[in-house]
Amino acid sequence: MFYGADYYPEHWPEERWETDAHLMKEAGINVVRLAEFAWAKLEPDEGLYDFSWLDKAISILARHGIKVILGTPTAAPPKWLIDKHPEILPVDNDGYVKGFGSRRHYCYNNPVYRQYTKKIVTAMAEHYKSNSNVICWHIDNEFGCHDTTVCYCDNCLEEFRKWLKERYGNINKLNQSWGTVFWSQIYKDWDSVIVPRKAVTSHNPSLLLDYKRFSSDSVVKYQKLQIDILREVTPDKKITHNFMGLFNQIDYYQLAKDLDFISWDNYPINHFSDKSDQIAANIALSHDVMRGVKKKNFWVMEQQSGPTGWEEMGRQLKPGEMRLWVYQSIAHGADAIVYFRWRACTFGTEEYWHGILDHDGVPRRRYHEVKQIGQELQKIGPLIEGSEIKAEVAIIRSFDNEWAFEIQPHKRGFKYMEQIKKYYKYFYSRNIPVDIISPEDDLSGYKLVLAPGLIMVNEKITDNIKNYVRGGGTFLTTWRAGAKRWDNRMNDQSLLGPLKDLLGIDIEEYSIIPDDENINIIFGDNEGTANVWFDVISPVTAEVLGEYKSDYLAGKAVITVNKYGMGNAYYVGTIPSDGIIKELLDKVTEKCNVSVTEIKGDEGIEIFRRIKGADEFYFVLNFNRKPSTIIIDKPMMDILTGKYINGEITLEPFGIKVLSNK
Ligand code: GAL
Repeated sequence: MFYGADYYPEHWPEERWETDAHLMKEAGINVVRLAEFAWAKLEPDEGLYDFSWLDKAISILARHGIKVILGTPTAAPPKWLIDKHPEILPVDNDGYVKGFGSRRHYCYNNPVYRQYTKKIVTAMAEHYKSNSNVICWHIDNEFGCHDTTVCYCDNCLEEFRKWLKERYGNINKLNQSWGTVFWSQIYKDWDSVIVPRKAVTSHNPSLLLDYKRFSSDSVVKYQKLQIDILREVTPDKKITHNFMGLFNQIDYYQLAKDLDFISWDNYPINHFSDKSDQIAANIALSHDVMRGVKKKNFWVMEQQSGPTGWEEMGRQLKPGEMRLWVYQSIAHGADAIVYFRWRACTFGTEEYWHGILDHDGVPRRRYHEVKQIGQELQKIGPLIEGSEIKAEVAIIRSFDNEWAFEIQPHKRGFKYMEQIKKYYKYFYSRNIPVDIISPEDDLSGYKLVLAPGLIMVNEKITDNIKNYVRGGGTFLTTWRAGAKRWDNRMNDQSLLGPLKDLLGIDIEEYSIIPDDENINIIFGDNEGTANVWFDVISPVTAEVLGEYKSDYLAGKAVITVNKYGMGNAYYVGTIPSDGIIKELLDKVTEKCNVSVTEIKGDEGIEIFRRIKGADEFYFVLNFNRKPSTIIIDKPMMDILTGKYINGEITLEPFGIKVLSNK
């Protein structure tokens, strides 16, 4: 198993490199990522390449048995390049040029930048093609980070017009599709089409969605430019890119296609989200999202190893916390763990972003924890190699649908992903594995498929879902399903559009639910609330499972199920409170026979399983800050102690166990 760190030798004197390599080896580290921001050091002036320092670092690492993932440095174009070609800089939607001085300061569609990208990537590829210690390429860094997916420069304008022409063929089709007759927006020809720079008020929602799609495609295309070179010059080396979990500006299914495997950056305890401690379920979801983009295991390329921080800082990691999050990554499909970063830098924007070592480079508690994990992984790694996660439940996450809701949230503040989180949380709390998949993926292997927020469908998606249910699958979708066409305009059919017969209901009327209004619903013996939205449903062929209790809605259906072919399609016309979601999904999972793990744990204990043939590996993770227990009803091998355990077992705070059924 690969175990590593993100290492920046260029930030330290050469005399230190030997010590670093030695300390890494002692900690079990066998891979590092290098150079992804080092363009100015690799090409100090145009055409003047200097790989000598990197060669030296790589050879020191090689002597210690440490392999290298090499970053292409395009996330940080050097000053000389920007001085020569300031037109590379991206433009925001006010028309303001984002200047040099941080990173990611380039436009994906800039032809000059594409040329320079080719040159540096080719030079690196040629230089390292026969270096067997370099095992993998890492393209750029976190595409889209710092809100850099979308640019509004003139190159983008030109490329957008070409992109639209390819998609729509003729301008009238575009006008029809976008409904440009509204507010006199009709375009006479391709040259008159705009990009959605700041206007007096909101742009056309179809234009906005296409601009998101175009921007995402631009990143995919830019990545492909690099991949094509690398595949040609260094066909034996793998290629990856570091993704960002729930980040939504790029269609990750598309970005993943051209890569050998994907990796992602995991910072569970940070200073940039609402709470310093991320909810374990949300990080679990991020892992599952990441596993889903390529339907296979992944790497963590930046696993948190210290307090985060730029201008402000996140909190210190408590003993055992780093280890816990590492095991969660592995449980959900990480085949390698690479920590960010080896050592905290003494300068630059990320001065306070801590690594395994502090600024002084002295090994302390976090280093010792990394070393302990390294030793443990030497036992666990070989056993779990080739193992996978097998899920009977899938949740569809569609970028197009997420974008449609981002453009028009319906109710202020509503977020597509928040609804998915609610459904995911149910499965997480019952330790039921879930795959997060695209609406076009093969659904046939799943017992249950959920698609919260599927406001837009196209023919392919509709057929995919209907065939699945016809064949005996169980499907659940929610309010607004099928309301819009794939071009983000309303369907002129009745609500639910092409999904109507599948769901067997009519939507009589609907509304957002203002915050100061309370609507109660009942499902079985349970009472709860409707949130964000209500649909008033009248069943056609469907059976009513839940009803409203309040106001003029009382007695009207809110949750239904319809038999369709050999399967069942559920519809939820609101966002029910958690208790109702639980009752509903208890019933649904029981009805479609979803398996549950035999190990029972206290609340706050996560149990996730990897499988290889008949071998099962259970990762038991105590996210509680107090001792917590699990109950195992047959003897299982505790891989770290080599002993069989059975019955009631206590895990210390942040404690973990890796159990095997053999
Ligand atoms: C990541 C990024 C790294 C580093 C880290 C800490 O998002 O990929 O390069 O910047 O955050 O800020």
